Amino acid sequence: MGSSRILWRVCKLGLELLLAGCSVVAGSQTAPHANKTASAIQGKQIFSSACAQCHGLDGRGSERAPNIADRPTIQRLSDSQIVRIIQNGVPGTGMPAFHSFDNSQIRAVVAHLRTLQGKNKTAAVPGNPEQGKTLFFGKAECSQCHMVAGDGGFIASDLSEYARIHEVEQIRSAIVDPGNTGQQARLVRVTLHSGQIYAGRVRNEDNFSVQLQSLDGTFYFLSKSEIDKMQTDAQSLMPSDYGTRLNTHELNDVISYLIRAAGGADPAARKKGEEFEY
Ligand code: HEC
Ligand code: HEC
Repeated sequence: MGSSRILWRVCKLGLELLLAGCSVVAGSQTAPHANKTASAIQGKQIFSSACAQCHGLDGRGSERAPNIADRPTIQRLSDSQIVRIIQNGVPGTGMPAFHSFDNSQIRAVVAHLRTLQGKNKTAAVPGNPEQGKTLFFGKAECSQCHMVAGDGGFIASDLSEYARIHEVEQIRSAIVDPGNTGQQARLVRVTLHSGQIYAGRVRNEDNFSVQLQSLDGTFYFLSKSEIDKMQTDAQSLMPSDYGTRLNTHELNDVISYLIRAAGGADPAARKKGEEFEY
């Protein structure tokens, strides 16, 4: 381990030198009204010189750093969260802080990363977003588990940004054909020695404790010594019957609502400060 640490330091030093050079080059191209093409080229250049040696040219990772193009957890981060990661790094990991970038350079990198994530495609709206919203918060019951723009449930992922990273057909299949969404997406029932029962999603687990979030959003910290048994539901929490519960129109409406919520169809609806001009 010792020698690889030294190697990291050497790499980091080399990286910093590289970056210093890179920001000189990039800086000379930054005009206040840099057009989209210029900033797209800039973003690509910065990404290939500053990020690609670890994350790969396509962002899909290498042995040194994870995939940041395809991983949903990274795709779900807001632009400003990614900006902070670039500025501050991830302390205690190999992800360095990039202090030498100015705002326009960071924006350009983020925009390029979004392109790698497939985010910048304009989405066509297949249905009526207003009716979709009514369904989402009403009959279809999505909001019991999912949040959009600060409204809804805590137990499943926040879908506010979902449509920015996913194509219409991907959204459709996530709804009607959720398949195996993984162990994490299942409900766990914990019975304590005392007989008390808790149900929810496991948010964290170590040798001694389990952190459970119940459907109403409350967190429970349970010590493993008090647990009698833990049972995991065979089914994912995400219902698998929306293909029959919703007709094609309703499904299109819900998809349209998610696209509108993510600002895909109407740039004016995008949250100010969260979104950059590409
Ligand atoms: C020296 C190698 C290295 C370089 C260069 C690098 N990264 Fe990383 N990056 C990492 C590693 C390692 C991680 C995983 C950190 C962790 O374990 O959470 C990471 C994680 C990330 C994450 C995800 C953080 C999270 O919350 O999981 C993002 C986003 C990211 N990097 C973006 C970038 C961008 C953009 C650049 C270029 C400006 C860049 N990285 C350059 C090594 C690197
Ligand atoms: C009983 C809870 C529940 C209901 C109701 C529900 N979902 Fe889900 N949904 C989940 C869970 C759990 C997942 C797995 C991913 C996660 O959130 O961790 C999921 C996944 C998804 C995903 C993929 C998200 C991702 O990050 O990969 C989409 C899209 C989605 N649901 C849309 C909907 C829509 C639209 C509705 C209403 C028509 C709905 N869901 C109703 C619990 C629910």
